Amino acid sequence: MTTITLIQPNLDDLPGYEHALAQGWSPDTVQDVSQEQLERLRRDPASFLHEVYGSPTLRLPDGREVPRLPSRDFWISDGEFCGRIGFRFQPGTEELPPTCLGHIGYAIVPWKQRRGYATQALRLILPVARAEGFSRVTITCDESNEASRKVILANGGILDGTFVHPSQIGQTKLRFWVSTIGDGPAH
Ligand SMILES: CC(C)(COP(=O)(O)OP(=O)(O)OC[C@H]1O[C@@H](n2cnc3c(N)ncnc32)[C@H](O)[C@@H]1OP(=O)(O)O)[C@@H](O)C(=O)NCCC(=O)NCCS
Repeated sequence: MTTITLIQPNLDDLPGYEHALAQGWSPDTVQDVSQEQLERLRRDPASFLHEVYGSPTLRLPDGREVPRLPSRDFWISDGEFCGRIGFRFQPGTEELPPTCLGHIGYAIVPWKQRRGYATQALRLILPVARAEGFSRVTITCDESNEASRKVILANGGILDGTFVHPSQIGQTKLRFWVSTIGDGPAH
């Protein structure tokens, strides 16, 4: 299996990210931000990188601006851009604000899917969460998202329950806890 690496978002590798946006890939799985990001990226690449990964606030799908949580954001690379994964958190607590459904989010571009990349990426980011003092993280996914559920389970996820997404009416979500200690079940 090809090994992937997690890399810090950076200007040199931005063309791969730009290409993915141009193909209609959205790094945000709740709202499609591909066109909006593409326009901002092409207008000013350096500012774009700063705003997406470093600005003190972010805009929710409903338009509200909320403070950005501390986060560790990575691009997934197999030599080419494959997707993103990020860990966000409130220091010193497992709690998250209601606007943030889980500690870790990820998305793989369609042409790099089904190669085990998301499973590997989650495995690689767990020590990052551990280094921030978290012995476990919560991850949520749609009940219908079989791929994401398998990614979480392959990393030792324990189902904690289901809930209905506050803004996506009728969408049942699964909530998992994933330990950051150890490798989870062999896979
Ligand atoms: C979910 C997602 C990140 C999985 O990425 P991936 O790199 O293809 O995942 P993996 O290759 O590690 O596959 C994990 C498992 O899911 C399975 N899988 C992958 N895509 C699948 C699909 N579309 N339907 C059913 N199963 C799928 C794989 O076969 C694998 O199963 P296995 O463990 O039995 O071998 C990717 O489909 C994606 O980006 N989806 C859109 C965004 C998203 O849903 N993000 C998660 C939000 S919680």
